[in-house]
Amino acid sequence: MTASTGPTGRARIEARTLRTDRWWLSPLLTAAGLTAFVVYGLVRTFSNAHYWVPQYNYLAPFYSPCLSEVCVEGSAHFGRWFPDLGWLITPPLFVLPFVLGFRFTCYYYRKAYYRSFWLSPPACAVAEPHAKYTGERRFPLVMQNLHRYFFYAAIPVASVLTYDAVIAFKGADGGVGIGLGTLIMLVNVVLIWAYTLSCHSCRHIVGGKLTHFSRHPVRYRLWTLVSKLNGKHMQLAWASLISVGLTDLYVALVASGVLTDLRLFN
Ligand code: FES
Repeated sequence: MTASTGPTGRARIEARTLRTDRWWLSPLLTAAGLTAFVVYGLVRTFSNAHYWVPQYNYLAPFYSPCLSEVCVEGSAHFGRWFPDLGWLITPPLFVLPFVLGFRFTCYYYRKAYYRSFWLSPPACAVAEPHAKYTGERRFPLVMQNLHRYFFYAAIPVASVLTYDAVIAFKGADGGVGIGLGTLIMLVNVVLIWAYTLSCHSCRHIVGGKLTHFSRHPVRYRLWTLVSKLNGKHMQLAWASLISVGLTDLYVALVASGVLTDLRLFN
């Protein structure tokens, strides 16, 4: 039997989809997860409080690096670059554009929010509600090509979080110590690095534009490693997003006195 086709050569099907499975579940969960993170992030960004535990050197990742005049005593490890610009301009706002830019333009997150918020399309074999499709060739979506530059910005941010995790090995007496917060920050920074290095741009930087891998054994080895991580990019995107939120929450709870840090050593 031959199906009737339109001018594009595609079958004329009036139904939006012929899928009978729960195709809507994945975009729904994605939208719920991303919305929850954005709401939490907004609350934390504008609360401008409870982000530093001097006793154990715990700095909440949302406030790292803290580069403003208004950063609380001891939390500005890399200097106070920006003046006090009023209560609305909190310290995270100086770093967030880079962190958010990296995530927002990420190949995986693009797929996630195109599907879950713009329904473009919501799932495979489900027609989108928009009449026109111009892809990422025009403004503003052509700006997604900035991703490779956000990748370069993500490296110093991950390095700063590594520094934060190292100095969090501080005991109550000022010597070396380990608390639950230290371990949480450590796991978080490992996931942040894994996500950052699994980036498609990183894979291209490491192994792209080569004609012969055999002549570049080191780059080939690195490309192989990054490719393995890259295969888990979606999982790492979610794991690192959740871990950064939970790490921030844990530090906020300890800093505000709601929780007492569980000490494993000193
Ligand atoms: Fe996702 Fe680069 S593609 S971080």
